[in-house]
Amino acid sequence: IRSADRLVADLVRDVPDYPKPGVLFKDITPLLADPEAFGHTVEALGAPWRDAAPRVDKVVGIEARGFILAAPVALALGAGFVPVRKAGKLPGPTFARSYALEYGQETLEVQRDAFEPGDRVLIVDDVLATGGTVEAANTLIRDAGAEVAGISVLLELTFLAPRTRTGDLTVHSLLPV
Ligand code: PRP
Ligand code: MG
Repeated sequence: IRSADRLVADLVRDVPDYPKPGVLFKDITPLLADPEAFGHTVEALGAPWRDAAPRVDKVVGIEARGFILAAPVALALGAGFVPVRKAGKLPGPTFARSYALEYGQETLEVQRDAFEPGDRVLIVDDVLATGGTVEAANTLIRDAGAEVAGISVLLELTFLAPRTRTGDLTVHSLLPV
């Protein structure tokens, strides 16, 4: 593990029993507050896709924590940013998908006109846990006529086997735990 990765890893705080008993919450706020670690994280999330062929046209961020990482990754890659939001937050026609979360149930939406036909899309989120969130985003992007190039996440909770939900998509995780 490189020292910059070590810096990032040390700034993710484990919070036991949040938001409910039995869940070990990964708090990334100390990392976000450190410009060196935040900058390295953004760089590392985008790096595998920088010279991708065909290129990444759009980066999708998943509300809320995914927005924080995905928007700077989009700018770093010279790609557009598209928000996938919790139900009821996006105006106009949308596609919607419901899914089970590690703690609860959620519905995500994307605007129907968010992509050009055939756009290649990178999904960025903070944590890949059960994989339900990314699976829903993947489906929404396809519903909207675009193609998912792959997934970049900061943390992957491998013990929850999220890759059983991501099919044959390429997944890059900075910190598998
Ligand atoms: C968290 C996290 C990921 C998702 C991962 O989001 O930010 O998006 O859970 O879990 P999964 O792989 O089991 O689906 P959450 O919906 O809790 O809220 P937030 O991003 O709005 O804080
Ligand atoms: Mg989230």
